[in-house]
Amino acid sequence: MRNGVIAFRRDGTLALMNDEAYRIFALDRSPGDVGRPYVDVLRERAPVIRVLSGVFELDHLPNRAELRLKELDRVIGYTLSQVKNDEGTAIGAVMFFKDLTQVEQLEERERLRERLVSLGEMAAGIAHELKNPLAGIEVMAGLLRRQVPTEGDAQSLLADIISEAKLANAIVVEMLEFVRPVRLQVERTDVADVLQQSVTLAETKVPRRGVDLKVDLEAGLPAIEGDQHQLCQVFTNLLANAFEALDGKGHVTITGVTGTIEMDPAMSGADPPTPTVVIDVLDDGPGVPPDATDKIFDPFFTTKPQGSGLGLAIVRKIVDAHDGRIDLSSTPGKGTRFRVTLPVASASSWFK
Ligand SMILES: Nc1ncnc2c1ncn2[C@@H]1O[C@H](COP(=O)(O)OP(=O)(O)O)[C@@H](O)[C@H]1O
Ligand SMILES: [Mg+2]
Repeated sequence: MRNGVIAFRRDGTLALMNDEAYRIFALDRSPGDVGRPYVDVLRERAPVIRVLSGVFELDHLPNRAELRLKELDRVIGYTLSQVKNDEGTAIGAVMFFKDLTQVEQLEERERLRERLVSLGEMAAGIAHELKNPLAGIEVMAGLLRRQVPTEGDAQSLLADIISEAKLANAIVVEMLEFVRPVRLQVERTDVADVLQQSVTLAETKVPRRGVDLKVDLEAGLPAIEGDQHQLCQVFTNLLANAFEALDGKGHVTITGVTGTIEMDPAMSGADPPTPTVVIDVLDDGPGVPPDATDKIFDPFFTTKPQGSGLGLAIVRKIVDAHDGRIDLSSTPGKGTRFRVTLPVASASSWFK
């Protein structure tokens, strides 16, 4: 049974408590529980005792009520009823309940998603409006530069204006990339090609300098169904971060192997595992501090003075659109590994 059930007699002794109830309340079953007072068995769950203790006094018993178990960070939905004998006297009571925590979290995520959508639209609008004036500033500063004497402060000030405008423009472009809904142009994509292009692109974004780079792909790695251009962006961003983290010295290793993911058995029944390609981007840089690991995929989270904080947010968005996964493991002082797992054929393309 997916519901929790607790039944007890009029004298307060427990008549039944199922496994789901123990699970939801995070209690361990002991052999003598049935027959003991329920206040004893549930003594660590005071809010539940409070609800149960009213059952014989109340005229209207709660139906589909909610109870928050703060100490467990859990919400349950419950219905309470009396058990009556033939004469109509209450001889016991039952509580049916369900763990609503997941439902709540889903709703919360949905609300957040909606907020982000409208925020995203606004950001896209602003970014779009900023593009033209920024380009204007850059061009006009360039023109002015030709009119002022080649020596003197004016030249270097104008050079600064141009480079700042370029930086602002790069942020605007990244922002537009982030807020734009992902539309995949799926084609058979060779992973080695993607990685090679990504390396080239990353090097134009962040000079690699003394960083040693190794690419090690399993022989016979299958081509995947994906958007080549967007996958390039994923690995370009990961590599750019690795180069930035290493600051001119260290090692970056990219590995690619085949793998499989088991689908959630509840969702897919006995479907065979999905073949995947697993690509790791590894660096031996300073690592991600533990308190930042939850946040690095959030838009605008950055620890860099000139960072946009959008690189990994874009990565995640594109990986999600491919029904893939991205995992991070990092040891401060030792390095960081980003693992991208992509299905060889994406689930959404099966439906096409
Ligand atoms: N390879 C890495 N090593 C250490 N920290 C990293 C690495 N990749 C990402 N980070 C951390 O994650 C943050 C967010 O990255 P990202 O979303 O690409 O934004 P940005 O690069 O603009 O800061 C970075 O500011 C950095 O703190
Ligand atoms: Mg980045």
